[in-house]
Amino acid sequence: MNDDELDLLMDKLTLRAKVGLLTGADTWRTAAEPAVELRSWVMSDGPAGVRGTSWDERHTAVLLPSATALAATWDEPLVERLGSLLAVEARRKGVHVVLAPNLNLHRSPLGGRHFECFSEDPELTGRIGAALVRGIQAHGVAATAKHFVANDSETDRLTVDVRVGERALREVYLAPFEAAVAAGVRLVMAGYNAVNGTTATASALLDGVLRGEWGFDGVVVSDWGAVRAMRPAAHAGLDLVMPGPEGVWGEALVRAVEAGDVAPEAVDEKVRHLLRQSHWLGELGAPRPRPRVSPRPDRVRAMLRRAAAAGTVLLANKGVLPLNAHGLATVAVIGAHAARTRTQGGGSAGVFPHSEVGVLDGVRARLRGRAKVVHVPGPTPAGPPPALDGTWCTDPGSGASGIRLRVLDAGGNELHSERRSSARQLEPPVPPGAHTVEISARLHPAETGLWTLGIAGFGRMSLRLDGRDVLAGDFARETDDPALVHVTPPLHTAAVHLAAGSAPVLVARRELAPGAGRAVVVSAAPPAPEVTTAVAAAARAAGRADVAVVVVGTTEYDECEGRDRAGIALGPEQDALVRAVAAANPRTVVVVNSGGPVEMPWRDEVGALLLSWFPGQEGGTALADVLFGRAEPGGRLPTTWPAELRDAPAVDTSPVDGRLTYVEGIHVGHRGWLRSSRTPAYWFGHGLGYTTWAYEEVTAPATVRAGDPFTVRVRVRNTGPRTGREVVQVYLARPGAVVEHPERWFVGHAAVCARPGEAVTARVEVPARLLRHWDEESGEWRVEAGPCRVLAGRSAGDVPLEHDMELYARD
Ligand code: BGC
Repeated sequence: MNDDELDLLMDKLTLRAKVGLLTGADTWRTAAEPAVELRSWVMSDGPAGVRGTSWDERHTAVLLPSATALAATWDEPLVERLGSLLAVEARRKGVHVVLAPNLNLHRSPLGGRHFECFSEDPELTGRIGAALVRGIQAHGVAATAKHFVANDSETDRLTVDVRVGERALREVYLAPFEAAVAAGVRLVMAGYNAVNGTTATASALLDGVLRGEWGFDGVVVSDWGAVRAMRPAAHAGLDLVMPGPEGVWGEALVRAVEAGDVAPEAVDEKVRHLLRQSHWLGELGAPRPRPRVSPRPDRVRAMLRRAAAAGTVLLANKGVLPLNAHGLATVAVIGAHAARTRTQGGGSAGVFPHSEVGVLDGVRARLRGRAKVVHVPGPTPAGPPPALDGTWCTDPGSGASGIRLRVLDAGGNELHSERRSSARQLEPPVPPGAHTVEISARLHPAETGLWTLGIAGFGRMSLRLDGRDVLAGDFARETDDPALVHVTPPLHTAAVHLAAGSAPVLVARRELAPGAGRAVVVSAAPPAPEVTTAVAAAARAAGRADVAVVVVGTTEYDECEGRDRAGIALGPEQDALVRAVAAANPRTVVVVNSGGPVEMPWRDEVGALLLSWFPGQEGGTALADVLFGRAEPGGRLPTTWPAELRDAPAVDTSPVDGRLTYVEGIHVGHRGWLRSSRTPAYWFGHGLGYTTWAYEEVTAPATVRAGDPFTVRVRVRNTGPRTGREVVQVYLARPGAVVEHPERWFVGHAAVCARPGEAVTARVEVPARLLRHWDEESGEWRVEAGPCRVLAGRSAGDVPLEHDMELYARD
């Protein structure tokens, strides 16, 4: 659509009509305007699947591996294909815009959304993010680069003022967004936080850097509820306030324009961005058909299985993996996470998967008819009880499987009633007169003992069992964070004795109150076994088996949007479990099921150590592929994992007086580790396959001129017994430089495959921009001439090959 055509449309719109387009029509839709044949478009989270416009367990979605797992593949073509899968899902659900990728960085291991971001490294984040953007957008669905910018942790995320030096901002935090813009991303989401004193939705970076320097011509949308003042965002480059229909713009903005406080051109500019985007989406002018597509489920499953295996990282292996299924009689699969594998993290990224395969099911399916699989849950990991699912409940009225959801008026009369499969009801219907949401279920406990029951939500709530009060109170809403209000409200628990074979009726009620959301979640956990006894039972089973697979991980409310993690220890129960099992059987494989780093004090005591991340719906099948050698563990760490949290270079995510200062500057992740004297447990880039490699030779030019890209060639040889894939990484260093640089920094990678004995050459293109630095004094990019060292290897901490070259300034 050219400017003249756009002008004609603009002429048809009054000021009020224009302003009306700048706030969402509802939570997920933009406003329509028949006067210019503009139809609304639909947005949906992202990033691990496309949830659609509702939080309803019946509206299921394809669930991809979480972002850390995608980045761990270091495989841009694969991530691009997964982006296409997201687009196909979006088309299936009538969604135009996917709210992904999340391009914030793993600055601290405590970041609550670490699982949802790719890496500690700006270059790897930019590459993987750009691949996802290309994949999504190749199918006419728009992607959204979020959250612009420096929104790298959750503590006080609505108000935190991130203080970050201009150089770090440019080289580290803005860089992935620049890559997304270069890949053509259509939307950018401005975050909740402030950067250097200005809230992101009103930041001068939007017009200055994003549009001015990078030439972004798409739409800047606010994070949900991030615009809290009318004027600053109106003056800045923000185009669209979400959600709607209420918002700070509307009539207030119309009046501000009429009073001359906001220039009409500012409004026009925003409307132009929206109209152009609507045209791109086919929702402006004559309707363009957007056929809904239904992908073949078997193909989708196969792709997700490949992806999860490709992201699985083998951190250590004492010759235990791969397992030979033929030589095994008994395999012990141990740990609560084996049966209940965490396939995704919490918060707005969450979807209701069509189906999920956990590790236990994956291993059982693989060994069916070949070997015996014994499952021992071990101790219960410390953490809140999970949401009650319909599998062990019946509807008190009909007796059918599931729970009953009712909505009552103030007099207790029923306004709505339906049977559902989950007691996690984030969007119960609210018909006129709705006063109370009720969830009831007849429980069929399989165990006798002290159960933990809980209810999450805000306001007046109660939990009753067979007519007796278990819990009641008025729980004030102490946060404005939409993720906490609408998705993961605080849980209140009580211990209750239940007997196996009994069938008590549980009734949970939550009164509705303005501004407090309407989510209500009922949770339940069986009696936790005594830790020593549970650990001993697991060790016994491991001792009797040929191989033990122990799955440990983080729990429900850990690794969740809206709050940072309190620590990264797995807890004494899970650590004791791993130690005891490893002591009982040297052929113990530990699988860590988390989205981000955890401490693994027992890591040298185990036979093999795998990271499954949050692997998405096919996680268990993929893990079985890796365990039994059907697939090589393809993953490499996208982020350095500390041995202990206190060793990590940037840990703190707690603002002081409202400010969070990025004291480490450009030394984020492995750069920070390299500068400190501490050694991490595993470096950025680390990961083993099922063969071994020798790094033989690196070649690169002897001289490079500033502004020119160059090519590095690395010859590696497969010295092991199997065909394999190696991710060859290239880093740069500037020995003797006057300007401060990281000790070395990541500049590119290439994956190669080779048969046993074969040598292959990886070719890595290093873009010229990675030789620049941002000069804070002049406010521009500069290149320092002088010696430059190229390093090649298999992780930031293992670079056996070096090549020195001279970098010349441009004349
Ligand atoms: C999150 C965004 C998300 C939005 C809509 C916000 O709380 O920060 O990432 O896209 O909600 O769910």
